[in-house]
Amino acid sequence: MIDDARERYKKKAAEAAVEYVQNGDVVGVGTGSTTAYFIRALGAIRSRVDGAVASSEISRRMLEEHRVPVLELTAVGELPIYVDGTDEADRRRRLIKGGGGALTREKIIAAASRRFVCIADRSKLVEMLGAFPLPIEVVPMARSLVSRALAAIGAIPELRKDFITDNGNQILDVRNLDMIDPVALEEQLNQITGVVTVGLFAKRPADLLLLANGNGVETLTAAGS
Ligand code: 5RP
Repeated sequence: MIDDARERYKKKAAEAAVEYVQNGDVVGVGTGSTTAYFIRALGAIRSRVDGAVASSEISRRMLEEHRVPVLELTAVGELPIYVDGTDEADRRRRLIKGGGGALTREKIIAAASRRFVCIADRSKLVEMLGAFPLPIEVVPMARSLVSRALAAIGAIPELRKDFITDNGNQILDVRNLDMIDPVALEEQLNQITGVVTVGLFAKRPADLLLLANGNGVETLTAAGS
């Protein structure tokens, strides 16, 4: 797919997500190029929301540029809605996220939100998760320990070069994981000492997946599309 078309689809999915924002909402906001379109759209309706909680410093800056008030999660508690992109999604709305390295705060906001609306161009939809290397955030001193534990289950971790997360940690991009049961895998990887966050969003998948292409926006929900 040519990049121009992909950008149009990302924008289309992002603008469709605005329909789910209610007056007075505090909106959880993800990170990435698709979310950047959502932040622009949110800026245009900022007078009818109470503010946003940002999943990264980069999104915080963008929200401020678009004059959307940025609030701390600790100050607002449960969020009605969280909007974010994804690196891969399956039809059950399970996701691989963290390509932008914001997975920890994204997972926290997802857990704190009643409704998670995931937005993407349709090329992110896959039959089975796992072609995209799974980002895992690790405490730096545990990097080798975690890498050995991953190698022991046949996985191939690679340190993301020249990258430190907003939380001061590092990212391993992990290939060759068995994704047949993403929920079980997420639980298993979460148990490795030194792992901060696994970029699999399977235990708490998206509630709505908005997928855009040249034919429009397809909505996948638990009840079907
Ligand atoms: C950041 C993420 C992003 O949502 C994911 O990488 C998708 O980004 P983009 O919209 O640029 O394709 O998980 O940590």
